[in-house]
Amino acid sequence: MEVIILPSSKEVGALAADAIEDLVRSKPTAVLGLATGSSPLPIYDELARRHDEAGLSFTQVHGFALDEYVGLPAGHFESYREVIRREFTNRVDVAAENVHGPDGTAADILGACHAYEEAIKAAGGVDLQILGVGTNGHIGFNEPGSSLASRTRIKTLAEQTRQDNSRFFDSIDQVPHHVVTQGLGTIMDARHVVLVAVGAGKAQAIRDFVEGPVSAACPASVLQFHPHVTIVIDEAAATRLAGADSYRHAFGNKPAWQGL
Ligand code: F6R
Repeated sequence: MEVIILPSSKEVGALAADAIEDLVRSKPTAVLGLATGSSPLPIYDELARRHDEAGLSFTQVHGFALDEYVGLPAGHFESYREVIRREFTNRVDVAAENVHGPDGTAADILGACHAYEEAIKAAGGVDLQILGVGTNGHIGFNEPGSSLASRTRIKTLAEQTRQDNSRFFDSIDQVPHHVVTQGLGTIMDARHVVLVAVGAGKAQAIRDFVEGPVSAACPASVLQFHPHVTIVIDEAAATRLAGADSYRHAFGNKPAWQGL
C-alpha cells in the first residue's frame, strides 16, 4: 500500500486524476470503477478540466459504478447513476452506453447483482477503481461485518452511514436503508485501487484500515492484501497515522519512472 499525503483536496484530486490520465492515454479502452460521495468530486472536476483544456478523451472508456441505493426511483437526483452522470460522465466524452451501475430498481435484485458481476467480467475487469472510505471504514457500501470475499449484493446501510449521507437529502428519513454494492471481493479484483480521503473526519478510519489489523470490522483493511493500492489523503486525514513520516519519506524519494 502506498500512502501519499498532500496539502489539500485539490492536490489529492489532481494526483488521482494523473493516475487516471496515464491509464486512459496508454489504454484508451480502460475500464474505470467509479465512486460517488464527496471524495471523488475533485478528481472528476480535474478530469473534466483536462478533457476541456488538454484533449483528454474517454470515448472508448467504460465506467462501472461501485454502488447504488435501493428504493430511489430511476432518475432520482441522488441515485448514484444520476450523480455519476452529472458529476463526471456527462462532462467528458464517455459514451452513455459505456456507463454502467448496479440496478437498485430491479424486481430481481439477486439476478441483477449477478448480471452486474458478469458485465464487469465481460468488459475485461476494472483497470482502476476509485474509492472513498466511510467514517466507519466501509468501501463501496460494504459496512463493518461484510465478508472480505463478498461479491455484488444487497446490503443494509449502517445508521452511521445514513447519518453521514443525510447531507445529500432533505432529511435522514429520505436516506434509503438498502443499497446494492460491489463486494469486497469484487473491489479486490480491480487491477489498481486509488482511494482518496480528505478531512479530519476520516483520520480514524484511515489509521484503522492502513495500520490496524485486517478485519471485517474495518472493511477497507482488506486492501492490505491488494498488490496495487494508492491511498491519497490530505494532511487532516493523515493526523492519526503512526507512519506518516515514513510514508512522506518514501513518496518524496520515489523514482519517477515508477509512476503511481
Ligand atoms: C460511494 C461509496 C462510499 C463513499 C464513502 C465516503 O460510492 O461507495 O463508500 O466513498 O461513504 O463518502 P464521502 O466521499 O461522501 O465522504
